[in-house]
Amino acid sequence: MLFKLTDEQIMIQSMVRDFAREVILPTAMERDKTREFPADNIKRLAELGLMGMTVPPELDGSGADAVAYVLALSEIAYACAATAVVMSVHNSIVCESILRYGTETQKEKYLRPLARGDYIGAFALTEPLAGSDPARQKASARREGGHYVLNGTKRFITTGKNSGLVIVTAKTDPSARHKGISAFIVKKGTPGLTVGRLEDKMGLCASDTTDLVFEDCRVPAEDRLGEDGQGFTIAMTALDSGRIGIAAQSVGVAQAALDASVKYAKEREQFGQLISKFQGIRWMIADMATELEAARQLMLSAAAMKDRGEHFTAQASMAKLYASEMVNRVTAKALQIHGGYGFVKEYPVERFYRDARVFTIYEGTSEIQRVVISNHILKDKRVL
Ligand code: CAA
Repeated sequence: MLFKLTDEQIMIQSMVRDFAREVILPTAMERDKTREFPADNIKRLAELGLMGMTVPPELDGSGADAVAYVLALSEIAYACAATAVVMSVHNSIVCESILRYGTETQKEKYLRPLARGDYIGAFALTEPLAGSDPARQKASARREGGHYVLNGTKRFITTGKNSGLVIVTAKTDPSARHKGISAFIVKKGTPGLTVGRLEDKMGLCASDTTDLVFEDCRVPAEDRLGEDGQGFTIAMTALDSGRIGIAAQSVGVAQAALDASVKYAKEREQFGQLISKFQGIRWMIADMATELEAARQLMLSAAAMKDRGEHFTAQASMAKLYASEMVNRVTAKALQIHGGYGFVKEYPVERFYRDARVFTIYEGTSEIQRVVISNHILKDKRVL
């Protein structure tokens, strides 16, 4: 490793590893079948301080750094990727946005309970016709006296149904492009906000992904997050952190797939010997481990840059791009090593394969990460 983990980072990693493998992992396969939201897991994560990890202790958070956070998130993803995505969006996108852009009142009123895990946060940027290009979103927020009136439909919202609070973006100036977008904090139960259709997904089955529908939803002006017109910047800043989180989820799932493959290869005999003796299998395992290590280093490096207060947009995208593509290769190899058993639900690898598939898509597709990275390089922005 480029740098040495601190005692505190190692302690957090080991505490979360024990917890995740003892408490979360044993029920992950069942949860994938029943699609039951992991409410109990999230409650336990909150008790351990994992739902406000990077929020300072004076706001009821744990005050951990980004490196400790990605180590913890990887361990949760190792056990259950559906639980990890809820933790990831809540911590890196919702809590961090309010911490960075919220007023003191918003921090007291919303961040404190979020950090305690009293309710879960969601982030609503994407729309049916605006995914990779969120500047063209159509949701509107019209100012009426002391309120904004929100209208529009948001799509593919992680924890759309089971969240207690949502940060939503909408156009306050429809004639402007990204500079006409503002962000708002909206509590669930606010009249005019309803949960729309629930997606039927191939992976991350226990995490709900829904539409959120705003129909003349009145939001007090003091619940606007940041300045008028700052919503796009807030979303992009949040996604920088979120993307390191997707790298962490990828690393966790890939490690689980590698460990399962090593275990299987050391138990399964064919042609009179363990399949771990065959070079074809050994080389696959060597490639899986090497790519996983490279992704882990990119993830840690981006997180460490964030902790040092350096500009880390390109590195977050690099970590997300490489790690999410790596986990798709690694889970495919894991399935291959398991042969027919990889294709059936008795073993966990088919779940890893399905869960990993969305990592190259959500929080910015691989193609969008390449746009971000190449923009930084070609515009001669400092990358390294
Ligand atoms: N940090 C801060 N500001 C940023 C920024 C960043 N990382 N990236 C861009 N900006 C700013 C720019 O500086 C610019 O500001 P000024 O005009 O003041 O200079 C402004 O934003 C617009 O920048 P661009 O012209 O580069 O923006 P663009 O419209 O061309 O889009 C993009 C750039 C990278 C393609 C962006 O649209 C993008 O990231 N798209 C993907 C969206 C995405 O990841 N969606 C996933 C949604 S979340 C999710 O997946 C659901 C979930 O719950 C998990």
